[in-house]
Amino acid sequence: MQMLQDKVALITGANSGIGKETAKLFAREGAKVVITGRRQDVLDAAVKEIGDGALGICSDVASIGDHQRLAAAVGERFGAIDIYMANAGVIELSPSADVTEEEYDRHFAINTRGVFFGVQTMAPLIRDGGNIIVTSSLAATKILPQHTVYAGSKAALAAFAKNWALEFKERRIRVNILSPGPVETEILGKLGVSEADRPAFERHMADLIPAGRMGHPSELARAALFLASETFVNGLELLVDGGMSLT
Ligand SMILES: NC(=O)c1ccc[n+]([C@@H]2O[C@H](COP(=O)([O-])OP(=O)(O)OC[C@H]3O[C@@H](n4cnc5c(N)ncnc54)[C@H](OP(=O)(O)O)[C@@H]3O)[C@@H](O)[C@H]2O)c1
Repeated sequence: MQMLQDKVALITGANSGIGKETAKLFAREGAKVVITGRRQDVLDAAVKEIGDGALGICSDVASIGDHQRLAAAVGERFGAIDIYMANAGVIELSPSADVTEEEYDRHFAINTRGVFFGVQTMAPLIRDGGNIIVTSSLAATKILPQHTVYAGSKAALAAFAKNWALEFKERRIRVNILSPGPVETEILGKLGVSEADRPAFERHMADLIPAGRMGHPSELARAALFLASETFVNGLELLVDGGMSLT
């Protein structure tokens, strides 16, 4: 029996990386999957890769109007959803002295406000007994150089999620947090680290991880499946970081 048979999952920021691998695994486990992102061409390619009737909808989590249009489209197609994974996120590394107002606002608009209003907008669409997964980061709890704004934008998510777990208790909707350590995804190309410095940066990261390597998105997908399917797990922040929090 598939673990997510007859379930509907909506995953934001799933045209690449952790979101896409999670969408692929959820689809293999029987779920109907809706994925979002801002780049239509990349979204179309991801939908093909996921298969099994996946649906891709272009939607920007920084726009409340986009959340509303997404909820209307998904509601029309499926009626309700069982799993909402608020996964879309951005990161640009910078020492605080160099952070511009635009960089600060972009992090909080996407990583923080995008998650809050995504959950607020999608909550009526989530079936009672369903669940929410919020993708945070190890950086929310472990101090890492140049991560200050990103860390701040992610740190709010654990507070949101734990409050929601109680707010939604009458509807038996569980809310959990997935906090990855460094994972090999496209995001590594968006950090602001030059191509020339990339290998050294990745080696440095791997050295900090007891596992001796960065994570693979499929490992995060399996953790997301655990959170989506274990019905007694609620309000948990699950670190999937190869032990990096210990160093
Ligand atoms: N990889 C890591 O090392 C790592 C570690 C800790 C936490 N995380 C978190 O894991 C999540 C997924 O990241 P990833 O590593 O899989 O990176 P990724 O491959 O770059 O994926 C990020 C996804 O978010 C989407 N996105 C970005 N801004 C968006 C917006 N405004 N509206 C809608 N979608 C948006 C991107 O698509 P478009 O660009 O097309 O919009 C993409 O699908 C993020 O929240 C990230 O902070 C990653």
